[in-house]
Amino acid sequence: MTEPVILALSKGRILDDTLPLLDRVGIRLTDDPAKSRKLIFDTTDPGLRVIIIRATDVPVFVENGAADLGVAGKDVLMEHGAAGVYEPLDLGIARCRLMVAAKKDAPPVAGRLRVATKFVKLTKQYYAEKGEQVDLIKLYGSMELAPLMGLADRIVDIVDTGKTLKENGLEPTELIATISARLIVNKGSFKMKHARIAGLVEQLRAVCEQRGAA
Ligand code: ATP
Ligand code: PRP
Repeated sequence: MTEPVILALSKGRILDDTLPLLDRVGIRLTDDPAKSRKLIFDTTDPGLRVIIIRATDVPVFVENGAADLGVAGKDVLMEHGAAGVYEPLDLGIARCRLMVAAKKDAPPVAGRLRVATKFVKLTKQYYAEKGEQVDLIKLYGSMELAPLMGLADRIVDIVDTGKTLKENGLEPTELIATISARLIVNKGSFKMKHARIAGLVEQLRAVCEQRGAA
């Protein structure tokens, strides 16, 4: 039997936004991931399985060939790097912006800016390009708290509606990048399982184009 193609997704909005795209190409999971503790799911396509992992682990699995395909936010791909993978398709889902934010009406900071973020690499690059030296504080979540508790002057985080910032008395100050989720493919898999992977990529591309035109 031919080996199945493995697609890596992450729980939450990537899974929620990818399942309808798969549905449009006639692929559904055979179990409901919301009701199951399983990590590997069969699909209605016997040649495709889905694994569900942490968002930041998706490029790691795909880069190492533990998954053939994955869906990951551009933020995750830029922050964690994804050498050795193709990025053939912008799925246009999980759209958001990577932004700098500060306490509302924060006065200018004398001296080095303290910036809290989980996107350490991207933030370093951003301020280096501006020629500004900053002190970075690595956090794993709830970045909004950092300026409120005096831990940092600025945060770099994902903004969608802006509600989280607003409800915490913060405001976006600079746009670093617009973000959406991308389909990534292991380079070796693209050769070894070419027909099936290229077929799925093209089907998904057609769905994304149709949606864009709608
Ligand atoms: P984990 O929960 O494993 O730490 P995560 O919080 O980054 O990971 P999600 O919140 O599901 O996982 O985000 C997945 C991707 O969706 C992000 O990498 C980003 O590209 C995008 N994203 C994050 N927050 C939002 C948002 N509020 N609106 C739209 N897209 C978002
Ligand atoms: C993300 C991000 C912000 C929020 C922004 O968090 O880290 O906190 O979304 O969205 P908004 O502009 O629409 O308010 P998420 O909801 O993913 O929670 P997380 O902290 O678990 O990542």
